[in-house]
Amino acid sequence: MNLPSLEDLDVFGKRVLLRMDTDVPFGSAQGRGPIVADDTRLRASVPTIKYLIEEGCSQITILGHRGRPGGRVEPTLSLEPVADCLEKLLEKEFGKDELADLPVYMAENLRFNPGEVLRYPQDPKARKLAESWVQHGDVYVNDAFGSTHREDVSIVGLPDLLPSAAGFSLISEVEALERVLDDPKRPVVFVLGGGKEDKALLVDHLLEHADWVLLGGVLPRKVKSYCKERGDGMCVSAAHLDREGKDITPQSVQNFVEIVRSAGTIVWGGPMGDMDSGFWESTESIGKAIASSKAYKVAGGGDTIHAIKKLKLEKGFDHMSLGGGAMLELLAYGDLPGLRALRGED
Ligand code: 3PG
Repeated sequence: MNLPSLEDLDVFGKRVLLRMDTDVPFGSAQGRGPIVADDTRLRASVPTIKYLIEEGCSQITILGHRGRPGGRVEPTLSLEPVADCLEKLLEKEFGKDELADLPVYMAENLRFNPGEVLRYPQDPKARKLAESWVQHGDVYVNDAFGSTHREDVSIVGLPDLLPSAAGFSLISEVEALERVLDDPKRPVVFVLGGGKEDKALLVDHLLEHADWVLLGGVLPRKVKSYCKERGDGMCVSAAHLDREGKDITPQSVQNFVEIVRSAGTIVWGGPMGDMDSGFWESTESIGKAIASSKAYKVAGGGDTIHAIKKLKLEKGFDHMSLGGGAMLELLAYGDLPGLRALRGED
């Protein structure tokens, strides 16, 4: 996919609006308040920030969101602790407001403003918000793959108004996932799970190019097993759930492991059992089977990456995506709203 690259964007002396994935997991440290528990998404954009500084931009304003505050200021979803964490990663002190004479500044959670999630350009409030951001930047860079499936103003509005490019992290995500779409090694197996039922809507689209879609987590409640009428073995297999509905059964684990072992390409998005309630067993078995397979393997989504790290399976994956929803939507539809916006398409 041809995306405008950072190297072709003239940033010298320019003020950059940089959209980053700032929606990171939080924990708390005694006496220190909330702290970033996993900084992977922030680390991913450090090369883009360093490049912009080295190329002589005059200022970087980092734009991002946290959670879904619904257009209201919600202090627990402030980006201040995220800015603190990024400062440490960059070994650089940020300006705390836009007038500070320092080149990097992080704006507050974009979703505190109701206009951010309104339809751009149709909604006047969304248009007004985009136009107000343009007062603070000359060029726009999107390095937030995990949000690129959204139609937020900062994802589709700003590239409509400013010269734009994709950041290094965004480019590497798209390239890694294109290997699943373009002439993949077959059979192609998707393993989906987790607690979000909306993934069920993607199953038919994924089956356009998958040979198997295996469903665990809450998904067997929404989608039943079936094979495509073409009869060439393109099938959806929904796991059986245990009595409490918290995990998939050992028989289903065994079925899935056999299919995974025969795969040429595997995409994993979502744990098999309810890990928060301690149901790890099936996720561990399937995760280990995927990691030890010789297939091209990608995984994405916060809970999946958490499971992979906890089980120390990182080395078994060719790519770990920073976006769960964005990864699956790109693979289901072949494109994303934020990528179309960067290419100047509607
Ligand atoms: C994510 O964490 O998946 C992204 O930040 C997108 O967040 P959203 O689902 O609230 O739009």
